[in-house]
Amino acid sequence: MYSQGLRDSKAGDDSPELLEAFQKRIDAEEKIEPRDWMPQAYRKTLIRQISQHAHSEIVGQLPEANWVTRAPTLKRKLILLAKIQDEAGHGLYLYSAAETLGESRHKMYQDLLSGKAKYSSIFNYPTLNWADAGAVGWLVDGAAIMNQVALCRTSYGPYSRAMVRICKEESFHQRQGYDIMIKMANGTPEQKAMAQDALDRTWWPSLMMFGPSDKDSTHSNQSMKWKIKRFSNDDLRQKFIDATVPQAEYLGLTIPDKNLKYNEKTRHYDFSEIIWDELFDVIKGNGPCNQQRMDARNKAYDDGAWVRAAAATYAEKQQNNKQDKEVA
Ligand code: 3HC
Repeated sequence: MYSQGLRDSKAGDDSPELLEAFQKRIDAEEKIEPRDWMPQAYRKTLIRQISQHAHSEIVGQLPEANWVTRAPTLKRKLILLAKIQDEAGHGLYLYSAAETLGESRHKMYQDLLSGKAKYSSIFNYPTLNWADAGAVGWLVDGAAIMNQVALCRTSYGPYSRAMVRICKEESFHQRQGYDIMIKMANGTPEQKAMAQDALDRTWWPSLMMFGPSDKDSTHSNQSMKWKIKRFSNDDLRQKFIDATVPQAEYLGLTIPDKNLKYNEKTRHYDFSEIIWDELFDVIKGNGPCNQQRMDARNKAYDDGAWVRAAAATYAEKQQNNKQDKEVA
């Protein structure tokens, strides 16, 4: 076991010896656990990434929630509800993982509500027709899994363990989305047109989920060195495209990219340049639904004030009862 385990990196003791020993542990594929020594920047990066990830899960419930009351059958409604509930659970595992790094859940959540914290750009787009529920599962959860399977091997223990369970559920989400797409793509011409429309609108924002291109990614180099990230943004994006194009072909739908073409030499699909200004604009808060998403989360928090107050009063009563019993 690493001998510096219980030293507090928050005290600023990032000496070259400690940093070197830490990197050795990472290179040896050891998991870093909450009470282990870690560089301040490693802790900070993890809190940033895990909390942004948690916020994405929580905000990510909203676009699909739009369809709960209008799902075409009871079965579809039940599946959709279960999926949305899973996303809430993912958020909670992730907030818990971030808490092990010394950040309070209250602080993280306040940063989300105030607009200070980031969450995935994809959730700032609207879900306009029922096929969007399919496209979100197929493409958004599909892109999320591509990124998150790699995170099961991330170097921080609590994050990697949370990701194992999350990925199992995300895999179900991806399949339920693809199942909706199969139904729509093989339905009436109007249904097929809805499926194509959903693909047209969701394709590019899904590719943007992987983050800016490697040359513009501020954190990738260090995060890869610390094995927080196992693949670069561009590598994961390419893997996603390569896996998804045959799925679109099976559906008989057309990916909205005239330059999409299999390259025999590289054995990957070539694709058009992403419009990066759109990603950065959405991240800055100017996407079609940023305001709506923040309003919804703030309203839910305000509406839940009585639940938090009741829970705090109940906890206080329990504590008083326990103390009374101890005195008696
Ligand atoms: N949306 C919003 N912000 C984004 C973004 C996106 N699609 N892509 C990158 N960014 C932000 C980064 O957070 C970073 O901002 P910061 O410096 O202010 O924190 C900045 O842009 C620079 O990007 P980098 O590439 O340097 O950032 P990272 O190294 O953190 O890589 C990432 C970005 C690949 C998203 C990485 O953080 C990651 O793997 N996160 C964990 C997975 C995750 O959060 N996925 C979000 C979707 S979860 C989901 O979809 C739920 C599911 O149920 C569908």
